[in-house]
Amino acid sequence: MTLLQELESRLAAALTATLGEPTTAAVTAAADLRFGDYQSNAAMVLAKQQKTNPRALAQQIIDHLELTGLATADIAGPGFINFRILPEAYAARAVALIRDERLGVPATGAGKTVVVDFSAPNVAKPMHVGHIRSTIIGDSLARIARFLGFKVIADNHIGDWGTQFGMIIYGWNHFLDEAALAENPIQELVRVYRQVNAATKEDPAVLEVCKAELVKLQAGDPENLAIWQKCIEVSKAGLQKIYDRLDVKFDFWHGESYYNDKLAGIVEEFLEKGLARESNGAVCIFSDGTKPLEQDPFKVHKEEGWTDNPALIRKADGGFLYATTDLATIQFRIDEWKADHIWYVVGVPQQLHFRQLFDAAARWGKTGDFQHVEFGSILGDDRKLMRTRTGENVGLVEVLEEAVERAAKAIAEKNPDLQGEEAAQIAETVGIGAVKFAELSQGRLTDYVFSWDRMLALHGDTAPYLQNSYVRIRAIFRKLDAPFDATTAEIHLNEPAEIHLVRLLVRFGEVLPTILEDFRPNLLANYVLELARAFHSFYEACPVLKSDEPIRSSRLALCELTSRTLKQGLNLLGIDVPERM
Ligand code: ARG
Repeated sequence: MTLLQELESRLAAALTATLGEPTTAAVTAAADLRFGDYQSNAAMVLAKQQKTNPRALAQQIIDHLELTGLATADIAGPGFINFRILPEAYAARAVALIRDERLGVPATGAGKTVVVDFSAPNVAKPMHVGHIRSTIIGDSLARIARFLGFKVIADNHIGDWGTQFGMIIYGWNHFLDEAALAENPIQELVRVYRQVNAATKEDPAVLEVCKAELVKLQAGDPENLAIWQKCIEVSKAGLQKIYDRLDVKFDFWHGESYYNDKLAGIVEEFLEKGLARESNGAVCIFSDGTKPLEQDPFKVHKEEGWTDNPALIRKADGGFLYATTDLATIQFRIDEWKADHIWYVVGVPQQLHFRQLFDAAARWGKTGDFQHVEFGSILGDDRKLMRTRTGENVGLVEVLEEAVERAAKAIAEKNPDLQGEEAAQIAETVGIGAVKFAELSQGRLTDYVFSWDRMLALHGDTAPYLQNSYVRIRAIFRKLDAPFDATTAEIHLNEPAEIHLVRLLVRFGEVLPTILEDFRPNLLANYVLELARAFHSFYEACPVLKSDEPIRSSRLALCELTSRTLKQGLNLLGIDVPERM
């Protein structure tokens, strides 16, 4: 049980005794430490319902609270109940955390399966910043869910089927540079795609050939299928390199094409069940009229009033669409993988698509918790969508290269002793960590302004600051003559800085589950920053190696626990730590 849960259970007992019927209420971490460690507004909420005085009710509750050895409670303001945890209770918690591999994190996801659908770039189209955000946020959510005990299936739903392949096949036949393809497949395919795109603008006949190639591909023409297959293969290999570098792992790569043979049947089923109907030769899903207009994804408000906003699932020419594939995908994930939850980490522009998809799936009888984990854009210094100097979308690889280069420079300046392979390794860890942390420390819905200097600063809310904090703690242990065993240390807490450090260490297990309530890895990013700051204050105020026993071992054990918690917290953000930097 976390400390917060312990307080909630004590509070529930007191509420039940006070009111004479089973009652529970939430406890939260105190916003202002001057008033205590945790607080509850239970008395205020209940007094309102019962039309009594909240402060008087709070006093009654406190009279029934059994907190011996754990905390003290008092009333503040209009009727808040504030809890102050006793140092000995914090010490006991710290001892337990040191012995707990899970660092006090409850297994809230045990027995549940979640599919995390993230990254999902489109073959032969450049990975844009939206895919960068999706990759970093999605990977972190998958890691957090896994640590919380969920069975996590990370699925890369790549766009490996679609109209772009008409153009790519044409380009493959006319413009391909084999050497460039071997060297950098993703870049070469994008180049070819752009060249064809330009050619179609100059000569409309080219576009016709592209369309014909697409029709041939869809009809199963062996030559075009072979080209398509090769494109997918080289693209996957190129993507895999990026994921390896980012330490991002997928359990499956069930791209759009994986569902090709299911699409016709699904459209038929939708027609039969009356979930879709024909409209101008196409098959569309319309509103079922059960929701208020404002909440109905199949209705849109235009000048002339509310009108239909259907989702196409089969075009008049017989082609299937993104929505059709996603219906097949939901079916597969529920039937084959027994998914309880599906999280789609995709940018805000696809909001309507997912609202329609979830609504249609529910009407189809596919039940589960489906979430569109949406995010805003990354902006350049000029607050416009981030682009390269030539005006193109910034690719992920370019961002990583530059981050690592800048980190290498900073490391060379700060610590010239580091050389060769080790220095390169550290630069990689620091550069990539910086990019990820800059992303994850933002609220996902805000558009954020990308800044190299801010991201790589050693002082500030950055990955290098956190990695450096970890390195500083590990350096303490390198000064010891013998290995230190934290599990046998007694914990003594006297100084406010020590108590504050443990207060935060205890919160790790309380913060993590809340992240998944609203998909906010930034809560974890904030947490690790706060923890690192608490450590630095502790380290300034409390001598470690120069103290006498048993304080010395107590403080060493806190250092050890802090370094483990920092490392684990960063790991859940997908960020690695170096041992030196
Ligand atoms: N490939 C899509 C894109 O780049 C994202 C796919 C997201 N996943 C899904 N199941 N629709 O926009």
